[in-house]
Amino acid sequence: MSIKEQSIKKEYSQYRWQTNSDEIFTEEMKLFTLNAKDTTYALAALESGHLAHVYYGKHIEDDDLSYLIRLGENPYTPKVNKRDMGTFMDTTPFEYPCHGIGDYREPCFMIMDEDGMSSCDLRYVSHKIYKGKPQIVQPDIVTLPATFADENEAETLEITCVDKHSGIEAVLIYTAFNDLDVITRSVRLVNKGERAVNIRRVMSMGIDFDSDQYDFITLNGSWARERIMERSPLHHGKQGIDSVKGESSHQNNPFIALVSHNADEDMGEAYGFNLVYSGNFFAQAEVTQHKKTRVVMGINHFDFNWLLEPGEVFAAPEAVMVYSSQGIGNMSRTFHDLYRQHLIRGEYKDKRRPILINNWEATYFNFDTDKLISIAKQASELGIEMLVMDDGWFGHRDSDNSSLGDWFVYESKIKGGLKYLVDEVNKLGMKFGIWFEPEMISPDSELFKKHPEWAIQIQGMDMTQSREQYVLDYSNKEVRDCIYGMMKKILDSANIEYIKWDMNRQLTEVGSTTLPANRQRELWHRYVLGVYDVMNRLTTDYPHILLENCSGGGARFDAGMLYYSPQIWTSDDTDAIERLKIQHGTSICYPASAMGAHVSDCPNHTVGRSTPFATRGHVAMVGTFGYELDVTRIPENDRNMIPAQVEEFKKYNPLIRTGDQYRIGNVFEDNMWDAWMFVAKDKSEALFTFVQVLGRPNYRSRRIKLKGLDPDAKYLSSATGEVHSGSALMNAGINVSVHGDFTSTIISFTRI
Ligand code: GLA
Repeated sequence: MSIKEQSIKKEYSQYRWQTNSDEIFTEEMKLFTLNAKDTTYALAALESGHLAHVYYGKHIEDDDLSYLIRLGENPYTPKVNKRDMGTFMDTTPFEYPCHGIGDYREPCFMIMDEDGMSSCDLRYVSHKIYKGKPQIVQPDIVTLPATFADENEAETLEITCVDKHSGIEAVLIYTAFNDLDVITRSVRLVNKGERAVNIRRVMSMGIDFDSDQYDFITLNGSWARERIMERSPLHHGKQGIDSVKGESSHQNNPFIALVSHNADEDMGEAYGFNLVYSGNFFAQAEVTQHKKTRVVMGINHFDFNWLLEPGEVFAAPEAVMVYSSQGIGNMSRTFHDLYRQHLIRGEYKDKRRPILINNWEATYFNFDTDKLISIAKQASELGIEMLVMDDGWFGHRDSDNSSLGDWFVYESKIKGGLKYLVDEVNKLGMKFGIWFEPEMISPDSELFKKHPEWAIQIQGMDMTQSREQYVLDYSNKEVRDCIYGMMKKILDSANIEYIKWDMNRQLTEVGSTTLPANRQRELWHRYVLGVYDVMNRLTTDYPHILLENCSGGGARFDAGMLYYSPQIWTSDDTDAIERLKIQHGTSICYPASAMGAHVSDCPNHTVGRSTPFATRGHVAMVGTFGYELDVTRIPENDRNMIPAQVEEFKKYNPLIRTGDQYRIGNVFEDNMWDAWMFVAKDKSEALFTFVQVLGRPNYRSRRIKLKGLDPDAKYLSSATGEVHSGSALMNAGINVSVHGDFTSTIISFTRI
């Protein structure tokens, strides 16, 4: 059993300063202990009904950790002094703190009732424990993306709490995975009262850690510089990240970690938190008066409100919590395993993805049928397996200033029609993929002329354009039906086997022409739910299509999107050196199998840097791999390298896609090099990739210690033909050439 519940009676002596007596009081509580692989998590429903957090960390055999609860040290405990609970509320570690009843730390939950009151007090009423994991359902709209597990893989605890005053019921849902150090959390609200309540804030998780001795890790950036890892010690007060843009964003990823000060890739404690959500999020660590740390994560409450009428349900998205007692590397590998096995779905879940060539950086908007066929022809001869036609094939789109929403073929550009083009590409033995930006509408489009009210807007206010486009109101089912209908027509018209779903601007003037005033602030969230609905229809109706998400590069690289698309375009920055940081940061939480990575032309279009073709290949190989260049026009030497690169990718992709990733270098600390390894689960083979950023004088090689091998096994090196023990390779290392700028080396190790 991975989840255990027990009733416990504990005796405490009264706090002397208050009472000056030896009186003993007894607390009856329910203790819940969750075990996930090597993790233990404990919480208690106190006699008052408040949910106290007890422990989260390395697995502990003892099944009663209630001795950690400090009611006797607290001047005002629920039992002893029902009236003066302020100090108790403000200092006790809680699981799901409410606003307005004396806990002045960051709350998880806040409402406003019809009288304008905002205090509430959720208290335990019941619980249930069962095998497996429930889905998260927002009635009448969509099932939210979430990790999944069957009855043999996980166990779930649901704790029902009620706020007597408003009648709001909050069901806190915890799932512990048997074979992974993962506990997921989410919250389901039901209005059991008689009056409507405004949900002002509903976090998906909260934990009060007993210490502030942690570093805080976040993944931040901007366009073309996504998920750059930042680490700093926690300090007093609140530190956090969020998105207010309507998508998870380039700027902050919905991921945070608390790690012990001594934690590195291989040792120390790490707690990782990731929200399975693609819209506005909030994640914060707060160091409190007694140097404890409260972590909360959920939908951003900023500009959020959700009206919950009697009987209605609100489902908060899932927060994934990963614990590692063996460093940040192990935390990442747990996320990777979880997402590869329990989040990513569909036909390509466990399959190598076709090696694609995308025409965006090759042609931008300047292409036609003949151009695409000439690229496909050349690409097919080199072993590339799929042509992806990017932006510009629909409406009358020749630049980014028109036609979004007009999802019909631009006949004068796609001469002969889409089916002709796809058939010609298929005849070359290649698959065909296509680009859509389904959430958008151009002012210059037939759709906008017909339905200006379908754009997100506030009537009477100027509409802000970004990339000369507006955002469609995906809270409106009519809009979703119409867009999906157009997409379906295209998809049914030809043999399309891949879709790149793009999203190229953030939301402004967030208002809907169809929602009533008292539901307008729901739009941020309803928008995301609408996007999930269409993605859900798409992946259900076209299970064979490989879906790749994208948002101006990597602005929506999140676990919500991974539920629909097994891969996401990591960044518009395709420069191999910039990618070291971007892919390193992304790998902190997300697997290499999901990272869209392409070899592009040089000088690189984003940063103007020229790097060797081989290095570009080695960096892109640690992802989904493909090309984003005009293969008919690149230097012949580069082109000649493609067949071998393709074969190399095919050879190593199973290992990269399914193996354990070890980060060896750290470009964030040492700008000169980076290295990583992929090791098969059974340790029978490994791949080592090294990239030198800048060459160094005086020495031509660097000693690097490998990771993740079996110390007692012998491995054959593809570089030297020599055999060494795993122990030698990991403790003494190998010498790797560092001669030249932007050079790279890959070496495979095979157990003999
Ligand atoms: C975004 C994407 C690019 C490309 C363009 C097309 O910027 O990230 O890969 O598809 O849109 O407009």
